[in-house]
Amino acid sequence: MDHKSLLVLSQVLVFAIANDFECMPGFQQKIFYVEQHSEFTEDQLVLNVQFNDCSGNEEVIYEVSNPDFKVEPDGSLIALRNITEVVQVLFIHARSPHTDDMAEVKILGRKERHSSSKNALKVPRHLPFLRHRRAIVAPSISIPENQRIPFPKIVGRVVVSDRIPGSKIKLYGKGVDQEPKGIFKINENSGEVSVTKALDREAIPSYQLQVETTDENGKTIEGPVDLEILVIDQNDNRPIFREGPYVGHVLEGSPTGTTVMHMIAFDADDPTTDNAVLRYNILRQTPDKPSPNMFYIDPEKGDIVTVVSPALLDRETLSTPQYELIVEAKDMAGMDVGLIGTATATIVIDDKNDHPPEFTKKEFQATVKEGVTGVMVNLTVEDKDDPATGAWKAVYTIINGNPGQSFEIHTNPKTNEGMLSVVKPLDYEISAFHTLLIKVENEDPLIPDVGYGSSSTATVQITVLDVNESPVFHPDPMTVTKKENIQIGSQLFTVNATDPDTLQHQSIRYSILKDEAGWLYINPLNGTINTTSPLDRESTFVQNNTYTALILAIDNGSPPATGTGTFQITLEDINDNAPYIHPTSAYVCEDSKDLTVVILSASDRDLHPNSDPFKFELSKQTGSDKAWKITQLNNTHAQVRLLHNLKRANYNLPVTVTDSGKPPLTNSTELKVQVCSCKKSKMDCSSADAPHASMFLLLLFSLSSLFYV
Ligand SMILES: *[C@@H]1O[C@H](CO)[C@@H](O)[C@H](O)[C@H]1NC(C)=O
Ligand SMILES: *[C@@H]1O[C@H](CO)[C@@H](O)[C@H](O)[C@H]1NC(C)=O
Ligand SMILES: *[C@@H]1O[C@H](CO)[C@@H](O)[C@H](O)[C@H]1NC(C)=O
Ligand SMILES: *[C@@H]1O[C@H](CO)[C@@H](O)[C@H](O)[C@H]1NC(C)=O
Ligand SMILES: *[C@@H]1O[C@H](CO)[C@@H](O)[C@H](O)[C@H]1NC(C)=O
Ligand SMILES: *[C@@H]1O[C@H](CO)[C@@H](O)[C@H](O)[C@H]1NC(C)=O
Ligand SMILES: *[C@@H]1O[C@H](CO)[C@@H](O)[C@H](O)[C@H]1NC(C)=O
Ligand SMILES: *[C@@H]1O[C@H](CO)[C@@H](O)[C@H](O)[C@H]1NC(C)=O
Repeated sequence: MDHKSLLVLSQVLVFAIANDFECMPGFQQKIFYVEQHSEFTEDQLVLNVQFNDCSGNEEVIYEVSNPDFKVEPDGSLIALRNITEVVQVLFIHARSPHTDDMAEVKILGRKERHSSSKNALKVPRHLPFLRHRRAIVAPSISIPENQRIPFPKIVGRVVVSDRIPGSKIKLYGKGVDQEPKGIFKINENSGEVSVTKALDREAIPSYQLQVETTDENGKTIEGPVDLEILVIDQNDNRPIFREGPYVGHVLEGSPTGTTVMHMIAFDADDPTTDNAVLRYNILRQTPDKPSPNMFYIDPEKGDIVTVVSPALLDRETLSTPQYELIVEAKDMAGMDVGLIGTATATIVIDDKNDHPPEFTKKEFQATVKEGVTGVMVNLTVEDKDDPATGAWKAVYTIINGNPGQSFEIHTNPKTNEGMLSVVKPLDYEISAFHTLLIKVENEDPLIPDVGYGSSSTATVQITVLDVNESPVFHPDPMTVTKKENIQIGSQLFTVNATDPDTLQHQSIRYSILKDEAGWLYINPLNGTINTTSPLDRESTFVQNNTYTALILAIDNGSPPATGTGTFQITLEDINDNAPYIHPTSAYVCEDSKDLTVVILSASDRDLHPNSDPFKFELSKQTGSDKAWKITQLNNTHAQVRLLHNLKRANYNLPVTVTDSGKPPLTNSTELKVQVCSCKKSKMDCSSADAPHASMFLLLLFSLSSLFYV
């Protein structure tokens, strides 16, 4: 027997209050503190009590509240069997014919030692038998959960002193006569409390019952007194990881000891006991490269930290940037008998920008046709960092060779390639080659000890391909001013078109594309334009004095390229149109008092000064007795009058109109005048004379008849 495991902490209350000569009946010490290191073994002496009835101590009977203990007549408290579960308190009842007293034994479990020993010297204020003698003493009873048959099992005892003969001890409360009913019962005479079935601490950790004594008629004599039944935990729950999935992140290259994540498991068992004290451990790491023990878990706190060196924690050299750990939690503070729960912790190694993008080639080649725009070449780079991040994404810059801003480079977001494109068309004849210097960087900055090296720049050699370009006229439009009467075959202009393909020595031939009036000829070789017909400013093809033709210049490339130029001739007016009068006929009544015949207007298709003022004249009239007179009204109009009435007839009056051009042009027109008889409202203009005579003779005849009849 391990006596050293027993420690009587203190002897608190020594009831030698007055002096040594006066005998105090009862226990000499009422409270004992005992420390239980591991367990009580069968037949172990727990402590010695001293009871004195001050009358010789004959027929003293000891009763213990816990059936697993007994007190020998000499006062030794002995364990009756091996007791591993926690027992918190024992009451010892001693009876002799002369006196009756109770002592309390407090057993401090291993876990409670610390806090309880602080209070060990304090006198509990509520010690029942210090104030008055209680008839019922119901020490709390502790029962391990999950007990096995047989049931019922005696688990404790209610001690009743000064018992009235025939009285009965009654027990009630939740667990006896209230739901859950029938779990506990009491022997009405002996006070032995028994349990009828196995208990589950995780369902009900304690029961609050009442005890009383009744007489034969059921009337309460003493009580009720509380009886607490505590269910002692057994380790019947395994730890559970309840909050998965467990995913932690750690940056590559993190220093040893960096905390990655925290694992915590739950154990339903009594948290004040080892049954719920967990210890964590990593069972397995996958993959196990480069080291099988890259992480460590704090056994008590569950924190997972890195133990691998920062250099090995390199996302780019690891076979996978993700580790799986099987983590175990074991209760009983990790002892072999503990129950185990496991979970998987996933650890992701996050990328740092520790690799610059590098061109796959030092020099790229591209060819592009002159005059076109668009992507020429895709520049490829490699970056070992995580493609989902700015540590991978490339940003390209043209750092040399782009003075005309003809080139741009943009990142293809899918492939990370640099798409180099022409944005302003290139000219082969200006420069057939371009060399660009391109640099590439990441969107995110590199970590401080890594830099962009020479592989992060590359040159691009661009070859411009010649294409057959159209000849261009100089100038365009081409304008000349000519008089409209120039001779047929006159040379008007020599066009000049040049081919932009200056390096190809192409020859150009000319032709006429549009010449609506058909006036022009162009020498196909030297571009000299001459006229093939007279020009006419008054032609309907002339708009606003200008005749417009389109000229082609065709090179001898393959295929030939054609340029178009506009040729405009501004035509200067010359007096090439005679004026004309309107109207050319009129009538007048033979006996009219108003001798006005008609007002003539004149027009001319030429421009000033080749048009008005016009001069109106009548051709010379024979004889002295003039019958007609023409009077100029203004620049464009003249009035024809009769000097006296004429007989009914048709008269043709020769009118000449002359414009102001130099030299002037004259138009002689016969104005046909009918003299009609206008009787009442009827008008008769039929001629009385022979209609076959020529107009002029008729006129003469008429005139002579005027004079001689
Ligand atoms: C009680 O415990 C002792 C010592 O641990 C052991 O030798 C003995 O066999 C146990 N008795 C029973 C009944 O388990
Ligand atoms: C460049 O890449 C783009 C997108 O993939 C593609 O459409 C284009 O044809 C490529 N250009 C060249 C010149 O390879
Ligand atoms: C115009 O000039 C060409 C020569 O350039 C000549 O052959 C042609 O006869 C000329 N046309 C006229 C109408 O004179
Ligand atoms: C044609 O025009 C170009 C450009 O203006 C000029 O260089 C060239 O001398 C001209 N040729 C002739 C024949 O006038
Ligand atoms: C073009 O050729 C024609 C015919 O040979 C000639 O009359 C004309 O003067 C030439 N033009 C020029 C600008 O030499
Ligand atoms: C006609 O030509 C003149 C000068 O040449 C110009 O001011 C005017 O706008 C032109 N009118 C039209 C309709 O083209
Ligand atoms: C003269 O005038 C008449 C009418 O007034 C006209 O029909 C004719 O064409 C003119 N002659 C000329 C040569 O213009
Ligand atoms: C000339 O006289 C005619 C007839 O009286 C008239 O209709 C016309 O408007 C005049 N013209 C001018 C320019 O005055």
